[in-house]
Amino acid sequence: MDILDFDYVVIGSGIAGLMSAIHLARHGRVGLLTKKDSAESNTNYAQGGIACVVTSNDSFEDHVRDTLAAGDGLCDEAVVRQIISAGPARIAELEDFGLKFSARADVPGAGYDLGREGGHSRRRVLHCGDITGREVERVLLDRVRAESSVTILEHCLVIDLITTGWLGLSGDNRCVGGYFLNTRSGAISAFRASYTVLATGGGGKVYLYTTNPDIATGDGVALAWRAGAPIKNLEFIQFHPTCLYHPEAKSFLISEAVRGEGARLVNARGEPFMERYDPRGSLAPRDIVARAIDHEMKVSGEPCVYLDIRHKPVDFIKDRFPNIYATCLRFGIDMGSDLIPVVPAAHYFCGGVAAQVDGTTAVPGLYVCGEVACTGLHGANRLASNSLLEALVCAQALAETVGALPRAAEALKIPAWQPGQAVPSDEAIVIEHNWNEVRTCMWDYVGIVRTDKRLERARRRIGNLRSEIQQYYFDYLVTSDLLELRNIAAVGELIVRSGLQRQESRGLHYTLDYPQKDAGAPARDTLIRDQPGGGRPAK
Ligand code: FAD
Ligand code: SIN
Repeated sequence: MDILDFDYVVIGSGIAGLMSAIHLARHGRVGLLTKKDSAESNTNYAQGGIACVVTSNDSFEDHVRDTLAAGDGLCDEAVVRQIISAGPARIAELEDFGLKFSARADVPGAGYDLGREGGHSRRRVLHCGDITGREVERVLLDRVRAESSVTILEHCLVIDLITTGWLGLSGDNRCVGGYFLNTRSGAISAFRASYTVLATGGGGKVYLYTTNPDIATGDGVALAWRAGAPIKNLEFIQFHPTCLYHPEAKSFLISEAVRGEGARLVNARGEPFMERYDPRGSLAPRDIVARAIDHEMKVSGEPCVYLDIRHKPVDFIKDRFPNIYATCLRFGIDMGSDLIPVVPAAHYFCGGVAAQVDGTTAVPGLYVCGEVACTGLHGANRLASNSLLEALVCAQALAETVGALPRAAEALKIPAWQPGQAVPSDEAIVIEHNWNEVRTCMWDYVGIVRTDKRLERARRRIGNLRSEIQQYYFDYLVTSDLLELRNIAAVGELIVRSGLQRQESRGLHYTLDYPQKDAGAPARDTLIRDQPGGGRPAK
């Protein structure tokens, strides 16, 4: 078995992984592992932009207030302040790397064209048209490819982390490396690193309907959990209110920025309904809007609601949202003259691996950054466009902390991967079937509106599926489908267990059994830590 040695290994090539790698490259040799082509990430599909205070009529205080309000009492205020105030320097850095944010066309020289999204009290979202993520990914990938101390390994799916606890060594359980599958050749290798950074993003694919691309299978949460790290607040799954509803439009998002430019949510009769739920109407925070849509759909029996931006000149729509306009048109919807059918879909993990702003976790040697991390910025509901901001700020803080730490003095012996008696699978159909079962179960029982009974049902079903999946894992040679299935099932179960622990409704966790916020007690985080000594990665 090949073993690759690096000072730092970063897993994931979205904004968090690329920024971490760029900053860590100043301190040593970096291996950047990513499971598909480098650009394939949630980052690549980000539309709205990056929330940051960049004008004199905005203030950190206002951005902090909006973030805390969206987070519904569960944000860590010190973390919110730290991340928001560090934003402008990171935006300047992105511009140094070559990123060009959209500027106001109406008043030349007037600076950025700032977008607005739900929960923001003013315009503060920097964007590159409606393809902000694609531009961020392109610029950061160019930069990382120019770093001679970064080795990029594509199509390398990390299976499990290797910890000293699992190796049976005494002392604190420490992360020292990992096993990975080359999804092209089928070979399994290992890496050894003084410090490992998980930047694996979220896990929208745990749900049947999601805005996320196929890579988002919650691998990092599952890897860290199996390695002994605590998982925090995983019940807070953000459902984006406006995913395009069309049989052929897989996962296509209609950015909240469209509502920021005046689009309103209406029902099938063309009647606006959001004002009945919140005075902020269609621009209320996402948890409120998604729940309102869910309610409207259940009451009316309609399969979707609609966005109406027909009052805007079509040239404005084409200019501000060229990608969304063109995509809708491909599906026969002209935003200038038609209502846009939309439904909520799983979008973002507010919880994740418990971490500090600099990515420190409870497992020495293991750091996390980006959507996989739960730093305390988002609380019970993320404010729109705060995710890219968090990744930028935390990646730099992480590199500063990790870069100052001593490297491992000795190279520990890593055991070869043991396939045991595993044989090639002749049961691919069963794996596909189990994928669908997990995702359907999560959608039906662990969605926008929950009850203990539904959560218990999901726990039983996913528990059974996990036993079956574990048996495949032992019996058959691993494939990416099987490994990701193992991860979505583990993460699904963690979401359910977190939900059962929270006996109140707060932010994105709404349960009919406890419809109110627990006002009698201070807001508390949900923590799950099952294997503090380090779990078993290999077969
Ligand atoms: P990602 O960008 O998802 O990158 C994860 C990387 O890890 C990928 O390269 C993946 O291949 C790799 N990976 C995963 N598992 C493994 C494994 N086992 N082995 C190896 N590699 C692995 N947020 C905003 O702030 N503003 C927006 O406008 C915005 N718009 C969005 C629009 C859409 C459609 C979506 C889906 C999300 C949007 N978000 C937005 C959220 C934001 O894009 C993500 O939270 C953010 O990009 C996450 O960045 P990341 O680097 O943590 O993870
Ligand atoms: C969007 O453009 O609506 C997505 C923004 C986000 O998820 O922050």
